[in-house]
Formats: sequence, C-alpha cells, structure tokens
Amino acid sequence: MLDKKIYQEASQKRKEMKERVSTDPFLLDLHVYPETGWLNDPNGLCYYEGLYHLYFQYSPLDAKRGDIIWGHVSSPDFLTYKSEEPFIFTDSPLDKDGAYSGSAFIKDGKINFFYTGNVKYEGDYDYIIAGRDHNTIKIISDGYDYDTKILVMDHDDYPADMTRHIRDPKIYEKDGAYYMFLGARAFSNKGMVLIFKSQDLTKFTYHMRVETPYDFGYMWECPDYFEIDGQGILICCPQGLESGEYRFQNIYQAGYFPLDIDLKNKTYKLGDFVELDYGFDFYAPQTFEDPAKRRILIGWMGMPDADYTNPIGYDWQHALTIPRVLTYENGKVYQRPIEEYQRLRDRKISLEKGTAYDGKVFEAVVKNMRGDFAVNIREDVTLTYENGVLILDMGTSSYGRKLRKIKIDHIEKLQIFSDKSSLEIFINGGEKVMTTRVYSDKYVFSTNDFDFKIYPLRPLIFQ
Ligand code: FRU
Repeated sequence: MLDKKIYQEASQKRKEMKERVSTDPFLLDLHVYPETGWLNDPNGLCYYEGLYHLYFQYSPLDAKRGDIIWGHVSSPDFLTYKSEEPFIFTDSPLDKDGAYSGSAFIKDGKINFFYTGNVKYEGDYDYIIAGRDHNTIKIISDGYDYDTKILVMDHDDYPADMTRHIRDPKIYEKDGAYYMFLGARAFSNKGMVLIFKSQDLTKFTYHMRVETPYDFGYMWECPDYFEIDGQGILICCPQGLESGEYRFQNIYQAGYFPLDIDLKNKTYKLGDFVELDYGFDFYAPQTFEDPAKRRILIGWMGMPDADYTNPIGYDWQHALTIPRVLTYENGKVYQRPIEEYQRLRDRKISLEKGTAYDGKVFEAVVKNMRGDFAVNIREDVTLTYENGVLILDMGTSSYGRKLRKIKIDHIEKLQIFSDKSSLEIFINGGEKVMTTRVYSDKYVFSTNDFDFKIYPLRPLIFQ
C-alpha cells in the first residue's frame, strides 16, 4: 500500500534519492525514466487537451520494485516533459497491493482509465489459482485528479475456467460498442485474451476469447488491439514460451498476432506471432492513436525476471523506449522512431569507414548497405551480419547480457540511437528492432565496412 500520505511523508527520502539519481553518469538523455525508484510498463497513454500523457508502473521509493502506483509525465511534443505528481496511489481495498497496468480511453471530453487492482491475501497461497484478486477498476479523470475508483469487474465476472491472473485492460471501440481486452491465464495453464463488451464503458459482460489452437505460453500479459493500414493487430506479451536460437530469446516475449476478428459474430483468424523487438530490454508495449492518426507505441525498456541486471546504486531503474510509429507494410508491422526526435539533431557528421566516433548520445545512420558487416557500437559491444544472421554481442559491461540473434535475409539500412546506457537499433527502416541497456564507459562507434552519418543529439528537457 502506497497512498498519497505515505508518498508525501517520504519527501526527504525522495529528495535524497533524486540527488543521487542526478549524479549517475549513465542517466539517460533520450528517454523517460523515473524521477526516483523503479519504473515498468507504460500505462494510460493518450493525447488529451494539447498534451501527451504518459503514465507508468512506478515504485518511487525503491529502485528494486516495491509498492506499485502510477507515475505520470506530460509532454506537448515528446521532447519537453513535465514530471507530474503520481496519478493512481494504492489507497483502496480494491488495489491495496498494486495499481497494475491499464490504459486510457477518451470519451465525452474525459479520460476513462481502466487498470488492474492487485490484491494479495495473507496466507499460504500460490497466488495463481488462489490468494489474489485482480479487480478491473475505472477512473474518470482530466488526467490529474479523480473522485472515485469504480469497480467494473472482479473474479465473479470472469469466466469460471480462469486462474486469478486476469489483468491489463485495454479498450477498443467498434460500431458503437466498447470491447475490453484483458490478458488471462486459464486453469489449463493456457495464456489467452478475454474480450468483454459494454455499451456504456461501465457495465461489461464477457463476450469471447482469443487463443491459439496450439500451446503458446501460460499467460498473455498487456494485450492491445487496434487496426493499422487495414490490418487488425493484437499485441500481447506471452509468458512461458520455449527459447530458441533465433526466437523467443528473452524469458518473456513481446509481439503481435495479425488478427482478423469479427466481434459481432465472435469469429476470428489469428496469424503467426511476430516478435516486436529482438534485444534484451523490451516488454509490455502499449499503443495509442494521436491527433495526426499516428499509431504510437511505447515500450518498457526492461525485462521482468531476467537473469541480467542493471546497476542501481543511483536509486533508479528502467526507462520507457523512444516512442515508435507503427505502420503495416508488406504483411509486417514496421516500427520507426517518432520523427520529432529529428529535432534533437545537433548537426550532421559524415564519417568514412575505418574511422571512429566517440560521442555518447547520438543517432547513427547507415544507408545502402550490401553484404556482411561488423560494427563496434561500444568498446565491448559489436553488431555483426554474416550468412543472413545479425548478432548483437555484448561484453561484461552489459551486466549479464550476452548474445541476441536475428535471422534476416538482407540488411540495407541501420538507424541506431545511442544513449548513455541504452541502444535502440532499427533495421531496414523499422522492419526489425533491437533494444538493450548497456553500461560500458568507452563509447566508440566504428566500422571498416561502410561510411556512416552521425547526428549528435540534444537531451530531452524535463521540467
Ligand atoms: C507486465 C506486468 C503486467 C502487470 C504489471 C505489474 O510487466 O506484469 O501484467 O499489470 O506488470 O507491474
């Protein structure tokens, strides 16, 4: 439980933590990170009355993850941010052990937030089939304040074959009805998405489920359904998939199924699951549509339960990814860094192969590539392409991160965002992406295989 009073009474502790955060040489310039403490999933992403609002899973008093509430930043342009007061505290019996992930839906000039109230019972439970409630809660708000937490659904409203793990609501509107997508784990240990229907955004009834006809993990977290360029896309984060050499290399996955769904007749066709990112640190992405009709995705630049870590001596951990704009082209979702980031470019440096660039925060662009190559991104981080396999190889400065591989039959373009302790690598104009944290202090970018351009980037501004 972390209510507003506990948060405010910890102001001295937070002040000291904030001072430590500000002295971290690995503090990020291009990303939203927690003012103090821990951050995980992006939540409630929306554009409302002239501002983008980003909320996130937030544990302000503990960089190792303690009580989870919703943090909040706002921005007019993804470049200048204002740190807002936390939005959802855990001050109700409905969410006393965590204000878990959820989303925003704007209706009649107000933001309707839906999230999962996590409740754990005292006692000897496995917290999967017993000992836990996942309440679906609604808040009507201007983005900053609200009066009440409305219980929309609890376990009595969920199908009887489900465990206690049902969470992360996201709304999709179609033909005047509202559909809530929830991630679920059935007693059969099958992960799936449950869909509930509402006419008024308050009373929801069970409508249908989307699952694979084959085993595909025991839990699907953070579902998100939308259409882009005429294609239905279901994003989710399956847990419990077996890792292979080229796929599912992380402990949990974040990706999408192309989904053709007829919500009226309750029928659907699910395509094959595609991973959204092949790096070490990408999970729980959420999307929303902005006024320019762009489908914007932001992910958590982290990974739960991984066997690699991050240094946390400066009282903060994790960040959000650079926002990405999604399109659907040639039967695939493409992800491109949001174009606003071009305004951070300071100048352009053209470098010839064999030369090195040793700045810390920059965008590197290579075009018209052909054939195999090797790039040094940091002193002990290399990216090599050989025999149709792209390999990210990380050394000791990566806190346990080692190899990630992608099978890809040609590479013609790379766009790499280097921040003080992260890399986001966009391949072939966003056909594939690799995101990772990295903590080497020798920043060298060099290659013997091609000329490249570097744009040193100015930092985001936090007010
Ligand atoms: C994903 C997740 C969500 C949950 C939240 C809790 O990272 O496990 O399913 O709502 O984190 O912080």
